[in-house]
Amino acid sequence: MAPRKDTIFQRFLAPAFELLIDGEQLKRLSQSIDWNQAVTKFGDSENFVYPEYYRSQNFHGIEGGYLTRDAAVTYDAITQYVLPPGETLVRQGLIDAIRCQPTTILDLGCGTGSTTIMLKKAFPRSWIVGLDLSPYMLAVAEHKAKQAGLDILWLQGKAEATRFATEQFDLVTASLLFHETPPTVTRAILKECFRLLKPGGEVAILDGNQKSLRQVPWLTEIFEEPYIKDYAGDSVDAGMGAAGFAAVLTEELWWLHQVTLGVKPLAARAGFTTREDAIASGDWMAAPGY
Ligand SMILES: C[S@@+](CC[C@H](N)C(=O)[O-])C[C@H]1O[C@@H](n2cnc3c(N)ncnc32)[C@H](O)[C@@H]1O
Repeated sequence: MAPRKDTIFQRFLAPAFELLIDGEQLKRLSQSIDWNQAVTKFGDSENFVYPEYYRSQNFHGIEGGYLTRDAAVTYDAITQYVLPPGETLVRQGLIDAIRCQPTTILDLGCGTGSTTIMLKKAFPRSWIVGLDLSPYMLAVAEHKAKQAGLDILWLQGKAEATRFATEQFDLVTASLLFHETPPTVTRAILKECFRLLKPGGEVAILDGNQKSLRQVPWLTEIFEEPYIKDYAGDSVDAGMGAAGFAAVLTEELWWLHQVTLGVKPLAARAGFTTREDAIASGDWMAAPGY
């Protein structure tokens, strides 16, 4: 599918970014990665089936979407300009929302690993995995982590169907992923987060502020984002509740962004489905919404 030429991004922002971006620096980044080796390492090409919704779309107007070297090399250079008031501040909003002290962390749709790396720095003793569909994005993530001397495991996989064991993680995160997934996939990802978390574990989702996107619809037209209108019309908050999470709370970040945090009830281990059942059994700590 050819990139659309009618988006505000293609008509105005792409030419502006070309002026802002340091082409030489991107060339150096591209040359410092052995792409064939990275794609062989991360891309389980024989057996891996990319979801149709992902393979068939040109995210951000790049033909081939995230399954290209170009997308991976330019991602950070562009992202720094599209997260006002500042990329690091916005990503820090997700870290600040976390209430647990995780020792096992999974970052879904980790892309080039910017949030994953911040998580590792915030919780240095944690075992952390960054998972993404794109071997190209993972190649850049691995390069950045190596440069920072950080030990992070990078894996190719689907956020909606990871191959991890049940109750393996204390914390599961996703930043800037949900505006790129169709509603059915978003719901499947939240269910997968619930399965992967230990009881008492937390899920933290950072993305665009759904309320603001609904109030100012042209914000959903700026980039070539095939599923952003679905995302704007949906509610991460409600999705987490439906997946079984308790204590769900969405906080607005500088009007444009939001962080939603949910906790897997301790009752999930005890097998109680309602707060009343847990309380009736005398197991107060296991009550959903404890
Ligand atoms: C906008 S980028 C966000 C990357 C990163 N989390 C960040 O905060 O910059 C979305 C990423 O999600 C990945 N992605 C999209 N759908 C996915 C899925 N179902 N499973 C895993 N990764 C997915 C894409 O390959 C891309 O790297």
